[in-house]
Amino acid sequence: MDKLYIHPLPIRIWHWTNAIGFVLLIATGLQIRYLDLFQLMPFKLAAVAHTWIGFVLIANFFIWLGFYLFTDKIKVYHPELSPMKYFRASFRQIQFYGYGIFKGEPNPHHPTAYHKFNALQSMLYQIIMMLLVPLQFFTGVLLWDVTRFSSMVDLFGGLRVVDSVHVLLFIVFVGIIIVHVYLASLGHTPSAHFKAMITGYEEVQDEPKANTAA
Ligand code: HEM
Repeated sequence: MDKLYIHPLPIRIWHWTNAIGFVLLIATGLQIRYLDLFQLMPFKLAAVAHTWIGFVLIANFFIWLGFYLFTDKIKVYHPELSPMKYFRASFRQIQFYGYGIFKGEPNPHHPTAYHKFNALQSMLYQIIMMLLVPLQFFTGVLLWDVTRFSSMVDLFGGLRVVDSVHVLLFIVFVGIIIVHVYLASLGHTPSAHFKAMITGYEEVQDEPKANTAA
């Protein structure tokens, strides 16, 4: 079995900081919103921790963005410009996740250093990182100091709208994390993708085609 260097160090640092931070934001966010339902920690601690972790994750986001903007690894996120090819690859991947995997069929996607994601992952990760995460950070910053950002809050439809978007995205992220962790466990062993995100190296069954070093 060959090893392929697939997750460079900045991405691994960004990813695990982000994952731990998101779990903590969810826990503190739940405590802030549902203070009357359960008491995991004092309200003040939850509010202060939520703010600080939020700002750490905003700074952390720029490690991910900067890495991809300033290295040729941006190629892993290059969009598939042929819709037919994209839909065919996505359909094959959905068939594998929904049916083939239960019959022991091989994964139709064969990763390389510059093509590490399957069609579905590539599209979903871009929607998460370029749309949902920035929107969550943006609404979070507005809610952090509604007086200072009152004109911006008004521009986006008022406090109720900003707050609703933040809470709806929170629900979306809880769902995304559950699905993401499940899909990440579907490597050639359940822990294969997790180990790869820790060590950087993914074990691949086929001979990689090119670019095996980062
Ligand atoms: C909470 C626990 C989490 C675990 C255990 C986890 C696990 C993983 C693993 C194993 C990968 C490797 C690629 C794969 O197989 O899909 C990965 C990639 C990725 N994860 Fe997570 N993840 C977690 C949370 C998150 C969160 C909260 C986000 C975003 C809000 C996120 C966004 C991503 C992205 C964008 C990638 C691709 C990284 C790249 O650009 O190279 N993950 N994750």
